[in-house]
Amino acid sequence: MYTGCGRVLGYHGDLQFQSGFIFYFPKKNEKNHREGYYIVWIEYLNSSLTGSLTESSSWILKVDFYKEYKQMENLNRRDFLAHSVATAAIASGLNPQQLSAFSGQSKLKVAIIGCGRLGQQYAEIYRALDQTELVAIAEWNPERRKVVGERFGVKALFRDAEALLKEVVPDLVAIITPTKFMKDGVIACAEAGVKGVQTDRPFAAKLSDADQMIETCKKRGTVLAGGALERANWQVEEAGRRLASGELGQRLGAAVHSYRGEILAGGTARILVLQHFTEATVDELIAWGNPIESLSDEATDYGLSINGLFRLSSGLECQVFGNESTAPHRGVEVWTENGLVRWDRHGEPLTQIFHGFDSKGRRKEVDPNYRPWSWESVAKELEPFLYKLGMRGSERDYVLGPITSLIDAVSKGIPPRISGETQRHALEVAIACKLSAKLGSEPVKLPLADRSMALYPRPYRWLGGDVSGRPQSAVEAAGKK
Ligand SMILES: NC(=O)c1ccc[n+]([C@@H]2O[C@H](COP(=O)([O-])OP(=O)(O)OC[C@H]3O[C@@H](n4cnc5c(N)ncnc54)[C@H](O)[C@@H]3O)[C@@H](O)[C@H]2O)c1
Repeated sequence: MYTGCGRVLGYHGDLQFQSGFIFYFPKKNEKNHREGYYIVWIEYLNSSLTGSLTESSSWILKVDFYKEYKQMENLNRRDFLAHSVATAAIASGLNPQQLSAFSGQSKLKVAIIGCGRLGQQYAEIYRALDQTELVAIAEWNPERRKVVGERFGVKALFRDAEALLKEVVPDLVAIITPTKFMKDGVIACAEAGVKGVQTDRPFAAKLSDADQMIETCKKRGTVLAGGALERANWQVEEAGRRLASGELGQRLGAAVHSYRGEILAGGTARILVLQHFTEATVDELIAWGNPIESLSDEATDYGLSINGLFRLSSGLECQVFGNESTAPHRGVEVWTENGLVRWDRHGEPLTQIFHGFDSKGRRKEVDPNYRPWSWESVAKELEPFLYKLGMRGSERDYVLGPITSLIDAVSKGIPPRISGETQRHALEVAIACKLSAKLGSEPVKLPLADRSMALYPRPYRWLGGDVSGRPQSAVEAAGKK
């Protein structure tokens, strides 16, 4: 028996899927991996199919399905794997322990670099998941390093990424330092052979830094993913897919609301969703900014409010509202002739779909009927724990979403919902908005030619709490407050 965990490309009826887990039982004396019996677990259907292999390269498999189709409503992925491994062990006479290395049940080793307020939230979740094991922490502040080591039961403690990578090369690394240090962390991890890294936001201030991270990760085959941003939430993923499917009709327009405050933070959240909902990027923009002082060269994004117009690569126009927006929703909307999809950053629910009109001509909200998230049972199980961490209601998956997306990217080859490229585009849009506003609302084309251009976040995000007058106490770092 062979097992593989990687990208499975398959078809069932009209349905194409890209995510799964395959068990292969070869026919006797079959050497070409062509004939045999396959059981494939399809991630988002929570079901298994049997079929025959039509094409195979190392991690990309194409499967045509036949005969059996089992909907296993009450079976989760772990139970399915355990069942299949047990079946295979009996069939092949192997010790089940020999098979566990192939079963996908071996845990991904994780390190946290920068274990302050937010890094501790990542550590909590990575430690709680069955799929991962927290093996090392790099934290600059010596007192906090000791405290978080004790809190998370981690003995491999280091000052920084360099020291950590000399001793251990984890599968996944969450780089939750202040933004200034993310680039060095990402590059060091990619060069050391880490399979997947994620940063939180903003992931860079300078365009050339973003370029360098993306290029190095690409060269080294490292997945570069994002952190706590709503784009990683399954509902947002699915809302975008509803638009992409065309069932609501052709997209006619888009709006971004409340592009202000910190356009590198909440603003990045908006531009990521805009890219997803429109399947397009910003080609050209014109912007107005206030207050005027925030348009100086030295100023950060803090307090800057942008109104403007984006011209998208799809030809669509997107209206951008800053402070002046009186819309009750604070996210992104995309509409069609008779439909509208909304993501509201602080909304309950987080996304809404409208299709058709009622007798008074008002938009009719419809049941979004999203496909089930493959991590939903895990999320449900962790709900009380996440609640205690402050992740409640529509924020339940705020950190769990990006973490599970990175795990899926590394273990199954599913592209991360937040990539380095989409984050770079969000940074580029923010820089171009400020530039356009500063030049007296000149149209600006993207991508920007001058890669030395930058926009800095406020000092807390750029340099961290210890340096900007908001240090985290040892009691808080110990999780006791
Ligand atoms: N997505 C969100 O909602 C959200 C929320 C809060 C913070 N953030 C972002 O997360 C990042 C961290 O924020 P925070 O609130 O945890 O800050 P923090 O100051 O509490 O923690 C940062 C930690 O990183 C450590 N550190 C700094 N440089 C390091 C290095 N080179 N190597 C190892 N450790 C290093 C510091 O000692 C500190 O403990 C910032 O970029 C911030 O913008 C995002």
